[in-house]
Amino acid sequence: MKHPIIIGLQYGDEGKGKITDYFAQKADWVIRFNGGSNAGHTLWVDGKKIVTHSVPSGILFPKCKNFIGAACVLDPLGFKKETDEHKASGLDISPHRIKSDYRTHLTFPFHKALDESRELGSGGLGTTKKGIGPTYSFKVDRRNIRMGDLFIDEKGTRERLKDSLAYANALIREMKGKESSLKENEDFFEIISLFKDYVSFEAAPFYRVAQKEKCLLEGAQALSLDIDHGTYPFVTSSNAMPAMASVGAPFPHSKLGRVFGVFKAYMTRVGSGPFATELKNETGERIRKNGSEFGATTGRPRRVGWLDLDELKNNVELGDISDLVMTKSDILSGEEKICIKRQGEIIECEGWSETLSGDKLSKPLDRYLSLIEDYVGVKITLVGTGTDRKSLFERNTLGDLWS
Ligand code: IMP
Repeated sequence: MKHPIIIGLQYGDEGKGKITDYFAQKADWVIRFNGGSNAGHTLWVDGKKIVTHSVPSGILFPKCKNFIGAACVLDPLGFKKETDEHKASGLDISPHRIKSDYRTHLTFPFHKALDESRELGSGGLGTTKKGIGPTYSFKVDRRNIRMGDLFIDEKGTRERLKDSLAYANALIREMKGKESSLKENEDFFEIISLFKDYVSFEAAPFYRVAQKEKCLLEGAQALSLDIDHGTYPFVTSSNAMPAMASVGAPFPHSKLGRVFGVFKAYMTRVGSGPFATELKNETGERIRKNGSEFGATTGRPRRVGWLDLDELKNNVELGDISDLVMTKSDILSGEEKICIKRQGEIIECEGWSETLSGDKLSKPLDRYLSLIEDYVGVKITLVGTGTDRKSLFERNTLGDLWS
């Protein structure tokens, strides 16, 4: 049995959470393999909005278990807040349903302070200020603390944390030009202790599981934000490539299957960086408003633009995408003129007033999809036609996700 992967093809916020939720109905596991609480996956169920950050999007199905992979980063304070909120909405967040790898690196308050200090200075990139970059830097610099460390060697972990903190204070002092005296927070360890039962200490947690249980690998952020292949330096600090599922979970690479690349009918971006098709006009404002294009994590208004087929094609090839999913086609309903960038030029396409005509996609929307498929060379399997989890149109047969 091979297992599907879901990744973003633009700048995040493509609607990956909704697709994961759709596929998760039949999954035994949803596994996150990169990023941390910078992600915000929005799910709409019966008119109710649920946003997940660190918790994988399989949380809504009681039989589905959720795994936070080794290459993710986890903020225990944020995780506590998020799981408390999910619990208050009636979701089962008990440890048999959510596991974090013991190697997952932790985000401490000082990582967030470092992220914020940098954002306030001239080198700001428009990050989510969730401490993602500093956590990954400390990890690579071998100064960080992992989820399981406290339970393996409490004394040594506390010592190492003191060193990390002293280093963070020195960095902040240098950035701000004044004293920084961030302190170790006792509550922090108490909170980590609460999560002891959530930690998986297995070296290869999916080696056997992948032979008999259905797994779904949920990517965060997107290829244009990938640390190696995105629009550097305006990128996140992790890899969003499908192959990262094997490294990041970790997951047996011979068991990776179809790769679903998710993109929006138009484009959005939060934070700084190039955006060739950006609309800084009334049309952009209207699409932002209609599409509720405000960050799920930060609330920031997202920059809006037309679909860039050149970038999409690059990312489809980079990620070796087998199936495409286009979301939010309904947001463009009523736009008289829809544009698309192809071979460096903006071309106009006919707009659609409704996404569906009876039980079929409306003709202009279908032509828009064919134009994309012809250029990019991969079929569009699913089309998002509304916010609710049921509003997905199967344009090409979805077939077996686990074959
Ligand atoms: P960081 O990941 O917080 O360091 O932010 C780096 C860049 O990635 C910024 O432009 C963020 O706005 C963007 N970013 C990070 N995570 C997401 C996401 O889940 N959706 C959209 N943009 C994101």
